[in-house]
Amino acid sequence: MTEETARIGIVGIGNMGVQHVKHVIDLPNTELAALCDKNANRIDTAFALEDPPADPSASDEGGYAARLADVARFTNYQQMLDGAELDGVIIATPHYDHPDMSLLAFERGIHVLVEKPIAVHVKEAQRMIDGYRAAREAHTDLVFAAMFMQRTWGHWRKIKSMIADGDLGRLLRCSWLITDWFRTQSYYDSGGWRATWRGEGGGVLMNQCPHNLDLYQWIVGMPARAYGFVSFGKHHRIEVEDEVTAYFEHENGMVGHFITTTGESPGTNRLEIAGENGKLVYEGDELIFYRNEWSSIKQIRESESGFEAAPHRRELIQYEPKTTHGHEHIIENFADAILNGAGLIAPAEEGLNSVAINNAIILSAHKRQMVELPIDGEEFAALLEQYIADSPA
Ligand SMILES: NC(=O)c1ccc[n+]([C@@H]2O[C@H](COP(=O)([O-])OP(=O)(O)OC[C@H]3O[C@@H](n4cnc5c(N)ncnc54)[C@H](O)[C@@H]3O)[C@@H](O)[C@H]2O)c1
Repeated sequence: MTEETARIGIVGIGNMGVQHVKHVIDLPNTELAALCDKNANRIDTAFALEDPPADPSASDEGGYAARLADVARFTNYQQMLDGAELDGVIIATPHYDHPDMSLLAFERGIHVLVEKPIAVHVKEAQRMIDGYRAAREAHTDLVFAAMFMQRTWGHWRKIKSMIADGDLGRLLRCSWLITDWFRTQSYYDSGGWRATWRGEGGGVLMNQCPHNLDLYQWIVGMPARAYGFVSFGKHHRIEVEDEVTAYFEHENGMVGHFITTTGESPGTNRLEIAGENGKLVYEGDELIFYRNEWSSIKQIRESESGFEAAPHRRELIQYEPKTTHGHEHIIENFADAILNGAGLIAPAEEGLNSVAINNAIILSAHKRQMVELPIDGEEFAALLEQYIADSPA
């Protein structure tokens, strides 16, 4: 393509879609070509065309409502794909719709940026990816990106590059305590699809943690096996998980811990990665490297002292501070990939990994045993079907 802007359609003008609309209007390399929400009033109310606005949190600073006046609107997604002139589509509907909506776009050669999680379970994620690969035979430049905007945040990028550069040496442990996803009962009661097996397919792991699970595998790679301890509806009147403790083992011997909940406050977001050359700790916007003067493995093997660890020093690591949530960077990169073939920050095919870890934790908790990755997608799909069938929701 040689045009300067990519024509973008957005489906799902809810909490997230509204933000995407604003970014697509504001970015220099995107043009808002069409909007779709099955709820016809959603677009007007989201942009506070009503007085008073139905959703008081929706602000129209920047006059977006006026700038939407000429944008084509649809209540049916397929009609948007067929009726609007689109280069790409952003899918911001509830999770279960992501695969079919992506596949409908691929069949038409329309590029896709899909919200997280790319799918609810690995069988569906694989179906999307297979469909994408098949569509690329006819549309060789087809772009498939995922909204993992935390990959643009400076501290995660710095941690990833330090690990990739070998600063920590052999990795021993990666522990993520991520309990600052606090949500109230009213949050869970706010949308019909939320926090049910049928509507959302999971809880804190499915809704809040796809970012963290993606970052985990992006930074230290995929675990080989997982053991999950999961509580369903422990802190809220919901049927899905709101508290999780997971233990991972990696082929390289590294172990991982992933602890999360929406039921704790104040919460913690502490990522600690230990390697032979020291320990990297991110917490409270501070990244500290406790750097060993020599390898702890060497110290274990060679020291004549029974107790002495290798000496270390504490280094404050600088990184580019986060100024926005970063969604606009992913959208800009998506358009750049469409227009100029730029490499993607978050290829959606990699979104399979966070879904796989999620499903492995739930499957393990259900079976009360360690599970190997990749898990059997059919087995997880059957478990989810059982949860849905047993649900009164
Ligand atoms: N990346 C992030 O930071 C982030 C943050 C929040 C939500 N999300 C993701 O965004 C997606 C949407 O979440 P949300 O909180 O905006 O939900 P929401 O319920 O606020 O909005 C969803 C919208 O989709 C519309 N919709 C549903 N089915 C549709 C269909 N078949 N056709 C057209 N429109 C349809 C609904 O009417 C609603 O307006 C989810 O996948 C969620 O995980 C991502």
